[in-house]
Amino acid sequence: MGNKRGRFSGRLGFVAAAAGSAVGLGNIWRFPYETGENGGAAFLLIYLICTIIIGLPVMLGEIAVGRKSQMDAYGSYRNLGNKNWGMVGAFGIICGIMILSFYNVVAGWAFGYFIQIVFDGLLVEGKGNYGNYFNSYVADFWDNLIFSFVFMVLTAFIVIRGIKAGIETASKVLMPLLFVILITLIVYALTLDNAMEGVKFYLLPDFSAVNASTIYSALGQAFFSLSLGMGALITYGSYLKKKENLFKAAAVVTLADVSVAFLAGLLIFPLVFSQGQEPTAGPGLVFVALPTIFEQMGPLMGRIVGGSFFLLLCFAALTSTISLLEVPVAYLVDERKLKRKKVVFGLAALVFVIGLPSMLSAGAVDFFTNFMHYEGKNKSFLDVISDLFSEVGLVFGGFMLTLFITFKWKTKKMTKELSEGNPGYAKSILKSLVNFSITVLSPIILGVIFVITVLQKFFGVSLF
Ligand code: PHE
Repeated sequence: MGNKRGRFSGRLGFVAAAAGSAVGLGNIWRFPYETGENGGAAFLLIYLICTIIIGLPVMLGEIAVGRKSQMDAYGSYRNLGNKNWGMVGAFGIICGIMILSFYNVVAGWAFGYFIQIVFDGLLVEGKGNYGNYFNSYVADFWDNLIFSFVFMVLTAFIVIRGIKAGIETASKVLMPLLFVILITLIVYALTLDNAMEGVKFYLLPDFSAVNASTIYSALGQAFFSLSLGMGALITYGSYLKKKENLFKAAAVVTLADVSVAFLAGLLIFPLVFSQGQEPTAGPGLVFVALPTIFEQMGPLMGRIVGGSFFLLLCFAALTSTISLLEVPVAYLVDERKLKRKKVVFGLAALVFVIGLPSMLSAGAVDFFTNFMHYEGKNKSFLDVISDLFSEVGLVFGGFMLTLFITFKWKTKKMTKELSEGNPGYAKSILKSLVNFSITVLSPIILGVIFVITVLQKFFGVSLF
């Protein structure tokens, strides 16, 4: 069985694929608006701390579990633990399916923006009021349906091709391109009037704005952005060879993820302030702030630069959707011995259907648009799924992983796995820090934040 599973060609392949999974809409779409809604620099700082002291160790834990067991998320927990622990893996697989169902809708928006900027008159029709343009765009059911359908089909085709030819190759090409275009746009944005106001908002912390919700948003963002808590990295880790140095791989993935998020902020906030917009605009932030500069570049340059930006956003999203789809695919291929191709199409269709209410929830149908009311706001169906499965679900998944390693699999075995391909690891200070985080720091923080988030979000209890 072992030799029939796919494999990455080596560390570079794994790093490209895992960084591809990590870098996505979470960095370029979600991170800037979360930062904007949560006060700017203070949020950035807390997010960075969460990433280093909790995110990186949890990532190492996931990759180690996956590489040790050489199985899908469910199979890994069951193999190294038992059937009951397998439920944690199963929960992660469900989170993956639910996250993909709405993620694909937002990816569809980015794809639609790419098409409409390059081939249609977005920069003319939206002129002067990209906020209105965005609102009516996402409320259009057919646009949503078509673009997210195409996106799901693309995802499925890459996943069908398998680990090396599909996932790895796509990521190796797309990731470097993304960096180049981001940096070019930042250089341009920083030259605009008032850009420095944006930089200040982004880099000078105001701690008076920090409360419990800032902290759980930052932690949730760190987990979402690093693709943690649902077994994506267990699955990718299971395609790695024994000789690879896992610490180095995880460090590079984390660094790539943080850099892209950081750069996305450095692009968006100067833009927002230079146009006198509000940083608190929420999920529409990049879709509203960016077209304005593309428009200012003139009709031709605007199309070229704007088109490239949204195309790259699509690429970033694509390397993430393939990892989200790979998690349930790996489960059905490994555990149920089903054919990869059938599984991929079946799951893609299922996820697409689960995503329909999310597609209708940005204005198309009032019932889904104002689906629930909590945290003092109306929440759309998409918001609710995102809160439940990405914010709460991933933190819970991370919490369970730390308990699993601490009480069941044991840190000794994790250290042994992390020493393969990294002989000095067991004696290094890093090992002690990682183990301290996995056994003490992370479970406490993740457990407490999980409880607070659930109480605050869904039961209206306000603790701070
Ligand atoms: N990390 C991805 C992003 O930032 C989203 C994702 C979450 C992908 C969980 C896989 C698993 O866009």
